[in-house]
Amino acid sequence: MDDIQHQFVKNILAGGQANPKAAGSAFAPSNIALCKYWGKRDAALNLPINSSLSISLGDLGTRTELRIRDEGIASTSSRRAVEAMPSSLDLVYLNDALQSPDSSFAQRISAFLDLFRPMLGNAGFEVRTENNIPTAAGLASSASGFAALVMALDDFAGWGLERRKLSMLARLGSGSASRSVYDGFVQWHAGTHPDGSDSFAEKLSFQWPEFRIGILELTDAAKPVGSRDGMNRTVETSPLYRSWPTQAGRDIETIRRAIQEKDFSALGQTAEQNALSMHATMMSAWPPLIYLQPESMAMIHQVQRVRADGLEVYLTIDAGPNIKLLFLEESEADVAGSFPGLKIIKPFEEVP
Ligand code: DP6
Repeated sequence: MDDIQHQFVKNILAGGQANPKAAGSAFAPSNIALCKYWGKRDAALNLPINSSLSISLGDLGTRTELRIRDEGIASTSSRRAVEAMPSSLDLVYLNDALQSPDSSFAQRISAFLDLFRPMLGNAGFEVRTENNIPTAAGLASSASGFAALVMALDDFAGWGLERRKLSMLARLGSGSASRSVYDGFVQWHAGTHPDGSDSFAEKLSFQWPEFRIGILELTDAAKPVGSRDGMNRTVETSPLYRSWPTQAGRDIETIRRAIQEKDFSALGQTAEQNALSMHATMMSAWPPLIYLQPESMAMIHQVQRVRADGLEVYLTIDAGPNIKLLFLEESEADVAGSFPGLKIIKPFEEVP
């Protein structure tokens, strides 16, 4: 499996000469899918079953800085140690706190860096990552995390990779990260090739300055089952999953059209139905995956109530308990009044 990933990375970097700087850094926004990615057709290359479409969250996301560790790898004997046990040599900081090499956070980053280490001198890295969104609370920090990491690596190595390639590399870290290398509306094309060469994200050219996202952080508790295990379990055991790829295919077309025509009702309805359908596949998995908490249910009902009263607001939910609201600028004051504590994001106005 690792060989396949190494080969994939080599192909992407083919021809690109590394010309490393002292340090690389990059920012990548988090993103929220309006048509969800749920299910893999290939685990090693992280190829999705269905295409997905998201909106990036402006200046909410991850900033990452990366350099070779000072101690370096001078002697041959320590170089051998790197090859035998490369992951333990990275120093990984999250919001200024050094993470234990055994933590799943550091391990995921080190495993990802292993794919690039052979081209960059087989050294250990120092990685400093700052999130301005809660980690693992359903606000897709792995998406912005791997996108920022790949872009920081590119900056460090001086490869000068085009976005499409950055998106394909980020995909290996986390599928949703393939979309976080762009702002605005982004589509990740599932592709059909078994070698993963046509599975990449692309920015849609449409702007929608009045578009708003509201984040209701109901709990910042880490979810019990991560997206990766959750989607694998769903594909393997949920009888409802069979209908998902067809629905996602239909939804993404409707959402694309709605963005193009600025038809907010069509966009909101389709995005909400898409998210709740994904949750239906989760709930019908075995053992059941129930990410929604009582607070989430209360919010879902509250959205239905205010909508019945004439306020145009829709919701979407990822693999976690937190709810994201979708609305337009014209409804901002009313939505804020109906949902105290709402954090409002203007995805087209706060691009850093
Ligand atoms: C529900 O991208 O976290 O947020 O590729 O296994 O890392 P891996 O999964 P991940 O899954 C995201 C699932 C989702 C929907 C979405 O963002 O499209």
